[in-house]
Amino acid sequence: MRLIVTNIGTLVCDRRGRTRLGGKEMSHIDTICDAYLLVEDGVVSVFGKMNELPADGVGADETVDARGGMVLPSWCDAHTHIVYAGSREGEFVDKIRGLSYAEIARRGGGILNSADLLHTLTEDELYRQSMRRVREIMAKGTGCVEIKSGYGLNTADELKMLRVIRRIKDSVPMHVSATFLGAHAVGRGYDKERYMDLLIDEMIPEVGRERLAEFIDVFCDEGFFTPDDTVRILEAGAKWGMKPKIHADELAASGGVEVAVRNGALSVDHLERITDAEVELLARSPATMPTGLPGTSFFLNMPYAPLRKMIDAGCAVAIASDYNPGSTPSGDMKFAVSLACIKMRLLPAEAINAATINAACAMGLSADYGSIAPGKCANFYITEPLPSVDFIPYAYTTPIISRAFIGGRKI
Ligand code: NIG
Ligand code: FE
Repeated sequence: MRLIVTNIGTLVCDRRGRTRLGGKEMSHIDTICDAYLLVEDGVVSVFGKMNELPADGVGADETVDARGGMVLPSWCDAHTHIVYAGSREGEFVDKIRGLSYAEIARRGGGILNSADLLHTLTEDELYRQSMRRVREIMAKGTGCVEIKSGYGLNTADELKMLRVIRRIKDSVPMHVSATFLGAHAVGRGYDKERYMDLLIDEMIPEVGRERLAEFIDVFCDEGFFTPDDTVRILEAGAKWGMKPKIHADELAASGGVEVAVRNGALSVDHLERITDAEVELLARSPATMPTGLPGTSFFLNMPYAPLRKMIDAGCAVAIASDYNPGSTPSGDMKFAVSLACIKMRLLPAEAINAATINAACAMGLSADYGSIAPGKCANFYITEPLPSVDFIPYAYTTPIISRAFIGGRKI
């Protein structure tokens, strides 16, 4: 099956097929004006100038006329909690009235509130509610997503979440990665030590046996799990081949960055309270992608992770949505890109690279996803004609997508 996209005003592509961009490299994106793009069997084959197209065509089965619109690589969303039950707008109002995220959590709201709700839902109902959000993000240009468990907080409900993630994976064209986040909070009715035992002796082996998660995550932060807890959990996950991705430094400098780097985590996420020493450590640790979540800082009125400083120190950085019912009820990656520019002072090119190629790298997928490059999966979207790439984050609420493609198929 050969698909050709013609009359592309500007094609955002990467001839070199790079898998990670660090420091100064992040401020550049390759473009071709007046371009075509050829996709074969769902994979990017070649692209170039319209005037280089053979006069007798390329024997395409399907032609899509971009009518002067741009073509960009789909977003990769490397950090979501999109499988959840109900919603938490009550806490949203509590926050407006002055309660902090940590205070709400201490009162038994927050993550435990979502766990109570999730417990009451059947797997089918949880799947149905989650799929609404999955369809929403695909329509908004996301082509790869990571989804975490962590609203079960007992063995049966964590497995229920992970089975729903597997069902989503089986029913959408988008690539879905599953992460076990049993260590999101201490489950109701447990003290910390008993919950740690449950995680290590029961949950992780069950998840491993059913091969329900490729990654393992821990909320390594003040009031949740310590660096020592985190190491024990990661070691238990490693026995089942689960690679770490860590929540760290959201509520306080937690020590989670060092644990992440030492344990070869693919990413360390949040980083709103990261220290200078941790920035230096990440600049020297190419295996671990620091991932900022600007939507979380926006929604919680918190400091933003200092991604500008991190890029200037030579780091590669990613951004993700953190789509979840408590701290970020949005999976809109274009808005996350705008926030990264407006609030974190990333250049548009840096923010787009952070949300595509580096985000794919934060999921271990950048050999196949995250840019329009020969041999990579054909995940892209076509926009209306736009004045420039910089217009995308600038026009921060303007929808830009006219058609989105995953694996070379229109969704
Ligand atoms: O990434 N920080 C921890 N977990 C989520 C929030 C979860 C919730 O409040 O439901 C986050 O922001
Ligand atoms: Fe999160």
